[in-house]
Amino acid sequence: MSLGLGHGKPLDPAEGTVGVAPDALPPLPDDLLTNPDGARLDPRDWFEHPDRPLEIEIGPGKGSFLLAHGAEHPEVNILGIEWMGEVYRYTADRVRRQREANGTLTNARLLRADATAFVKWRVPDAIVTTIHLYYSDPWPKRKHHKNRVVQHAFLRDAWRILTPGGQLRVVTDHDQLWVWDRAHFDAWTHPASPESPAERAGLPDPPFAEQPFDRPAWATEGTLLGTNYERKFTGDHHQPHATVLVKR
Ligand SMILES: C[S@@+](CC[C@H](N)C(=O)[O-])C[C@H]1O[C@@H](n2cnc3c(N)ncnc32)[C@H](O)[C@@H]1O
Repeated sequence: MSLGLGHGKPLDPAEGTVGVAPDALPPLPDDLLTNPDGARLDPRDWFEHPDRPLEIEIGPGKGSFLLAHGAEHPEVNILGIEWMGEVYRYTADRVRRQREANGTLTNARLLRADATAFVKWRVPDAIVTTIHLYYSDPWPKRKHHKNRVVQHAFLRDAWRILTPGGQLRVVTDHDQLWVWDRAHFDAWTHPASPESPAERAGLPDPPFAEQPFDRPAWATEGTLLGTNYERKFTGDHHQPHATVLVKR
């Protein structure tokens, strides 16, 4: 089913320069479970300046945050990971057009993938300075909760790939998802208790500190981020929930 995102115009994700071509990810090796480092690659190499700090946005959707943040911060590289093909193509096409129009956003790329699997299997330790997770899908039915991005295993992976002091930045307007997120974040920002998840074994105690979410200076008045989702679905009456976990 097409979402009609290009309004009939062909979308060009410029694979090789903006979109990451599928062959940039070699097949997962058969022995992955016994050799969890066996599929790692270095996404910093996909950028013109691989030495710059790498940030990841999980689920950029139509890309408003990625485009604004990437243009505002040319000193960092930002990789948006979006699993819906048409949405990935739409956002990569936006980045391509902006590059062609004014030469900005050479620091932004898009990957079509399941971000949680990419983070788990592909990303090496301690190379990502910031993970952005904004208005993540809430998956409201209990049987679908396993699809939510925030899980204890994901927090373990996020901790592993972040640089010391690196941040996981989260915003959601969904109250039920926030209850879930909060329960997970509490377990990872407080000293160990007997119920602490096994994923925390061997990590500092607690693995993350927490600090208030600071709105980017470029966010428009009355918004936290000004993402497409935020502008469309949240109103003055509904203040989004937001936090920042900092790797200790
Ligand atoms: C509700 S939308 C929000 C989009 C954007 N962050 C915003 O605020 O406008 C969630 C986006 O995350 C994507 N997404 C959800 N889970 C994902 C995953 N595991 N990997 C990659 N993309 C994911 C969805 O396809 C969708 O585009």
